[in-house]
Amino acid sequence: MTYGTSANPVRAQASWVERSLAAVWHPCTQMQSHPELPMLAVARADGPWLTDFDGARYFDAISSWWVCLLGHRHPAVVQALRDQLDRLDHVMLAGVTHQPVIELSERLSALTGNVLGHAFFGSDGASAIEIAIKMSAHAWQHRGHRDKQSFVCMAGSYHGETLGALGVTDLPGFRRPYEGLVRPAHVVPSADARQARPGDQACDVALRAVRHLESLLEDRADSIAAIVTEPLVQGAGGMVFYDAEYLRQVRALCDRHSVHWIADEIAVGCGRTGSFFACEQSGVWPDLLCLSKGMTGGFLPLSVVLARDEIYRLFLGDSASSAFLHSHSYTGNPLACSAAVAVLDVLQKDDVLSANRLRAARLGALLRQFSEHPRVRHFRHIGMIWAWEIAGAQPGFAQQVFRIALKHELLLRPIGNTVYLMPPYLLSDADIDALGNSVVAVMNEVLA
Ligand SMILES: Cc1ncc(COP(=O)(O)O)c(C=O)c1O
Repeated sequence: MTYGTSANPVRAQASWVERSLAAVWHPCTQMQSHPELPMLAVARADGPWLTDFDGARYFDAISSWWVCLLGHRHPAVVQALRDQLDRLDHVMLAGVTHQPVIELSERLSALTGNVLGHAFFGSDGASAIEIAIKMSAHAWQHRGHRDKQSFVCMAGSYHGETLGALGVTDLPGFRRPYEGLVRPAHVVPSADARQARPGDQACDVALRAVRHLESLLEDRADSIAAIVTEPLVQGAGGMVFYDAEYLRQVRALCDRHSVHWIADEIAVGCGRTGSFFACEQSGVWPDLLCLSKGMTGGFLPLSVVLARDEIYRLFLGDSASSAFLHSHSYTGNPLACSAAVAVLDVLQKDDVLSANRLRAARLGALLRQFSEHPRVRHFRHIGMIWAWEIAGAQPGFAQQVFRIALKHELLLRPIGNTVYLMPPYLLSDADIDALGNSVVAVMNEVLA
C-alpha cells in the first residue's frame, strides 16, 4: 500500500517518523524517548482502525484521546461537513449567527431538559474550563460578591493545561513547573470508589468524601465561586470512578452555601458513561456544564459551556462592561458545529447508547479472561470505559504496554499503572472481538 503523490514521494513508515521527530514537538511527550519508543505514523483511518504508511492496522482503543466517538471518518459526519463546506465555512459569532450554531445550541439545551439553556462556545476543553471559571466568578461579582474568586476541585482532578484550568487541576506532573504562575484551588478528597473499606459501597466513600467539602464550604463559602468536578469518572487522574451520590451531595451543598457547581463533562459527556451527560445518572444538574472532545466526533476542535438562565441573566445590562467579554476567533465555527449536529443525529437516530450496552457486554465477557488475575486490581467498567491497575508495575510500565500493544495491533496509552479502554462506540461484533482478543494478548504478555 502506498500513500505518496507526485509532489510528495512515497515514503515508508520509518521515514515519516524520522521527519516528524525532526520537525514536530509532540504533546505530552518526552521527545528523547523517541525513536527508541516507537511512534505510529498514521496514513488513514476507518471506523476504529488506524492504518500506518506500511499498511499495518491498529485498533484505536482510546478513540484518539477520547474524541473519535463514532470511529474515524463516519460517513454521516463526512457528508455533513461536505454539505456545510458548500454553504458556509466560517463567520464570526459576535453580531452574526448561523444555522449550525443555533441548531446545536437548541439541541444541547433540550438534552438538559432546557435547564442549561444558554450555550457559550470555545475552542477546546481547556478553553471551556477557562470560560466556566471566569463566568462563575464574574456572575458572583454581578451579584455583589466580589470576594467569591476561589475554586474547589477534587484530589487527582484534571481540567486542562492552560493556566486557569491548571489551577483546578491536581496532577503534580502537569502543574509543578508552573506552580508560580498558577492560582491554586482548594483541593478536597476524591470520592474514589477504590477507597471502599471492607463492607463499604462506593456510596459510603462518596458520603465520607463529601464531608470535607461540607466543612470547607462552612468555613470559606464567602470566598468560593465554584466547585469543579469531572462527573462519575476522573479521567486523566487514572480513570477514577465514584458514586453519583457525591454529585447529589455537591448539588445540595452548593445550593446551601451559594456556590456554583461546574460539571466538566469534557471527557465523560456525549454518552461515554452510558447516558448522554454523566450528570443525568445523578438526577441533578450543575450551574455550568463544559463539553468538548467527542462532541464533533473527533473531526474538529470545539467546546461549549452550557449555562443556567439565572447566570445568563446576570450579564444583561446597558453597557458592554456588564457582558461576558470573552471570545475566541473560531467561536462557534460552522463546520465544527455542523459536525457536532451530525454526531447528535447519529447518536439519536441509531440509538447508539442503547446498542452500546450490548457492545459493552460482549467486550466485558472477553476481558474476563484476565480481570480476575491476582495482579489485576480494581477492574471496573462504566458505559464505554474499562480500567484496571496492574500491581507491581515497574517504572516505564506505560511505555512498555504501549509498545506491546502496537505488536498486537492496538493503540493503548496507559496512565501510570492504570490500563484503560475508551473505544469508539460504533463497533461491529468482529471489531469487538478483535479489540477484546488483542487486549487479552497484551495482558497475557504484560502479566507473564
Ligand atoms: C475532564 C477534562 N477536562 C478538560 C480537558 C482539557 O481538554 P483539552 O485537551 O481539549 O484542552 C480534558 C482533556 O483530557 C479532560 O479530560
